Amino acid sequence: MQKGEMLYEGKAKKIYRTSDPGVYLVEYKDDATAFNGLKKGTISGKGELNNKISAHFFRLLEHRGIATHFLEQVGDREMLVRALEIIPVEVVVRNIAAGSLAKRLGLAEGTALPRPVVEYYYKSDELGDPLINDDHIAVLGLASAEEMNVIRNTALVVNDILREYLVGRNLVLVDFKLEFGRSDKEILLGDEISPDTCRFWDAQTKEKLDKDRFRRDLGGVEEAYQEVWRRLVG
Ligand code: C5P
Repeated sequence: MQKGEMLYEGKAKKIYRTSDPGVYLVEYKDDATAFNGLKKGTISGKGELNNKISAHFFRLLEHRGIATHFLEQVGDREMLVRALEIIPVEVVVRNIAAGSLAKRLGLAEGTALPRPVVEYYYKSDELGDPLINDDHIAVLGLASAEEMNVIRNTALVVNDILREYLVGRNLVLVDFKLEFGRSDKEILLGDEISPDTCRFWDAQTKEKLDKDRFRRDLGGVEEAYQEVWRRLVG
């Protein structure tokens, strides 16, 4: 498959066309940003690790019946995916209070939530990705009620699958962000699933093994991503 013109360069990934119009190539970068781009840095080895980790999770989810954009890992930092029309809604699922939820609701970080919480954020750099609800999504015409129903239910099933899988690897799935898109009217899970987009804590020590190490200057960022990969593949 030929790598074609670059379609888009994001904070952590580049997307290229390929010789097949229905297939894009995703290249994972070592660049990292936080706080809507205010903090910038490079995490050496991150691109490769996020590519491997995302491919691993997408294979697991496909195996468990979730429709994703993932097709094939084709290089150290590259994967082929189905071309999607991305729905500009970030879907966050939370099991434990952390990050912006802990701040917004005044909960101590680490407070277990009695049931998963699903949140939506409008993907807009200018607006700083504001929290939105189903009514905002309808008014802005971002997705239909039917699509949001599929998205919410899929996000909760993904949570169940990943949580259970990670327990066996001594990792707690605190929260994570998903993105969905349309491909021939079908809703597919897109984007990535990696320590950039999930919070993973060690089950015993609660040590952070994700991008919070970068956001909060805790050090050992690459080592944490490597540790996640090591636990996934045993
Ligand atoms: O910052 P906040 O607590 O809202 O993040 C919730 C989850 O969503 C975290 O796992 C974080 O890594 C992820 N997230 C993301 N991309 C964003 C915002 C949050 O992957 N733009």
